[in-house]
Order: sequence, then structure tokens, then C-alpha cells
Amino acid sequence: MLLDATQRTKLDPSNDLLFYDAPRFVTHVDEGFIEQLTQLYRDRLSPNSRVLDLMSSWVSHLPSEVAFDHVEGHGMNAEELARNKRLDHYFVQNLNETPQLPLEDASFDAVLNTVSVQYLQQPEQVFAEVRRILKPGGIAIFSFSNRMFYQKAIAAWRDGTEADRVALVQQYFAQTPGFSQPEVQSKVSAVSSVFQLFGMPGGDPFYAVMATAQ
Ligand SMILES: C[S@@+](CC[C@H](N)C(=O)[O-])C[C@H]1O[C@@H](n2cnc3c(N)ncnc32)[C@H](O)[C@@H]1O
Repeated sequence: MLLDATQRTKLDPSNDLLFYDAPRFVTHVDEGFIEQLTQLYRDRLSPNSRVLDLMSSWVSHLPSEVAFDHVEGHGMNAEELARNKRLDHYFVQNLNETPQLPLEDASFDAVLNTVSVQYLQQPEQVFAEVRRILKPGGIAIFSFSNRMFYQKAIAAWRDGTEADRVALVQQYFAQTPGFSQPEVQSKVSAVSSVFQLFGMPGGDPFYAVMATAQ
């Protein structure tokens, strides 16, 4: 196992379902981050394919002009997911209690995860599940910034630098059999922290770590 027990701990150890009980109709990252992510999806996702948005909410970052065969959503709050117009179907599941996904082997072309990987306490099991449900050649894209619900992020994430977090997600992929060597895309402005301080778009650093199923 990649992480030890201490690295998996959260400052708020209560059941995550309680934390996500009330819907949050907010966006968790700024416009610059979302534009970067949507462009990455435009570049890497095939039209008319099957996509899983893992750890989703009421907003989709998929390019609005691209049609997909099926977009499956997963998250922790049914009201948020019900408002997400891109989802054809969704399910609610606490991955820290039940990492097994109720989805068939090799049934998706892409698995997406946005600004959420830091909340996974059993990332090894979740990444193995992501690999299981991907078709050969399918892609998994985990993107994140430096924002988080601090009390719900695991210690391994909280205690690391941004570079450490990129390395951690690379390791999640690398230790899962059947993934290609992970690729990293990032966009961090030299003045990110100043922009972020003033709430200006372009302030949120963008990181995506992705790999394909072999
Ligand atoms: C910051 S939000 C990001 C939502 C969405 N991906 C987006 O880009 O707006 C974090 C999400 O992680 C998911 N999440 C947090 N803890 C979880 C857990 N224990 N099991 C499953 N999902 C969880 C919830 O769906 C929550 O909406």
C-alpha cells in the first residue's frame, strides 16, 4: 500500500456523507482553471464516447458543444447531481466506505475527477476500480488546484507542497497495474497567488495527471 494509516487521516473524521448532506451550489475553482480543464477535455475526449464524472457535483466541465453517448455521474449529494444537466444518470456513494464502483468492467472511455482526489482515503482501491471500468485505451484524468476543504483532505495531501501532490497522483497511477506512465499538464502563473488573493481569474493553479488503460 502506498499510504500508511496516518497519511489517510482527516482532521474531520466524521462520515463524509454528513459533510456533503446539504447541497453546495458553488463553483470550487475559478474561470481560468475551468477553461483550461474544458480545453483539455476537448483535446482528449472522443465525441460519442462513454464518460464517468467521478466525485461530481451540479456543474460539468465538459465542452458544451461535444455530444457523448453516456455521461454517468457520481457524487455525495443527490440534489447537486440532479441539477447537473450533462449527466444521463448518477449515483451517490461514499468512496471512503465503499470504493467498489457499481459499474461493469471495461465499460467507459473516460473517467474524470475534478478537484476531489484529495478526499480519497483508499486511493489505491479507487484507482484500481477506475482502471477496471475503463476500456483498453480509455483515459483517466484527475485534475486539481490548491483549494480544498482542509478538514476533509487526507494528511498526505495537506502536508505536501503542490509538487508533492502532483507526484502523489502520479504514484496513484503508477502503483495501479494496467495504466500507462502518467502524463502531467499544469498551468501555474508566476503571479497566481496574487491573482488568487484578489479573486481574479487565472489565479487558481491548474494541474491534471492522466493515464490511459493498457
Ligand atoms: C470540491 S467538490 C468537487 C465537485 C466537482 N468535481 C466539481 O468540479 O465541481 C468535492 C466532491 O468530492 C466528492 N466527495 C468528497 N468526499 C467523498 C467521498 N468520501 N466519497 C465520494 N465522493 C466524495 C463529492 O462529490 C464532492 O462534491
